[in-house]
Amino acid sequence: MTGVEPSGTSSATAAGNSGAYGWAASNPKEPLCRHERTVFYRPQVDLQRVGTAYSSMSEQYIGLVGDGSQEHEADIDLVRRHLAGLAGPVLDLGCGPGQWTSYLHSLGADVVGVDMVPEFIAHARATHAGLDIRQGSMTELDFPDHFVAGILSWYSTIHLTPSALDGVLTEFRRLLPPSGVLVVGFFDSDDTVAEFDHKVVAAYRWPADVFSARLASAGFAEVERLRRQVPERPGRRYAAIAARAT
Ligand SMILES: C[S@@+](CC[C@H](N)C(=O)[O-])C[C@H]1O[C@@H](n2cnc3c(N)ncnc32)[C@H](O)[C@@H]1O
Repeated sequence: MTGVEPSGTSSATAAGNSGAYGWAASNPKEPLCRHERTVFYRPQVDLQRVGTAYSSMSEQYIGLVGDGSQEHEADIDLVRRHLAGLAGPVLDLGCGPGQWTSYLHSLGADVVGVDMVPEFIAHARATHAGLDIRQGSMTELDFPDHFVAGILSWYSTIHLTPSALDGVLTEFRRLLPPSGVLVVGFFDSDDTVAEFDHKVVAAYRWPADVFSARLASAGFAEVERLRRQVPERPGRRYAAIAARAT
């Protein structure tokens, strides 16, 4: 896989692009081809800004979620039921500190975690020896089409503008064969898609039906949905969808 940094090399060199976050910065209108069947998708969103924000708050973020103990039982159950036991590799895209990558690995999955933030990569590699953790952007994965059996995108699309989401979901679909599994976690909303002040950098809430429709447009069929709230944060609503590539 190019476009992501294999363990122990420099991301800018391995990715063949500029920018610390795996963001190819030349002409944003020009598709970037590195594989004969691959045309990388470039979202019109400032990944550099998102990456810088997570870098500067990486210590707090790792302290908050890094050991996985904050994850909700229902979410863990959903991820396990849909992504364990697949016959092929699983990607944890936007893996952050690697707690889900580690969980999937513990279930026997052939899992690769990818994130663009160097501090998360360093933490994940130091904490979870033996995990395959790579630095790069989930928008520039140079896997061949249909290469992986499953993808976890746990809150990693939350900073994408609504206009950028479709291209990223299409890229997820390209990586999966028909019946391949995607599990995506995101912030839920009852009414409209809305930007809000996330602690790290602006994020979006999505009505689950609208997110599901975007998945359908990208070539996925929803198979299970989870919506929940926690008493400590009454203003926050959480959703996850498990879907199969059609
Ligand atoms: C809200 S955090 C979630 C992290 C992790 N999945 C978790 O559950 O703790 C969003 C993550 O997505 C990553 N991310 C956002 N856009 C990305 C991209 N294009 N490529 C790789 N990682 C990305 C960020 O660096 C950050 O680690």
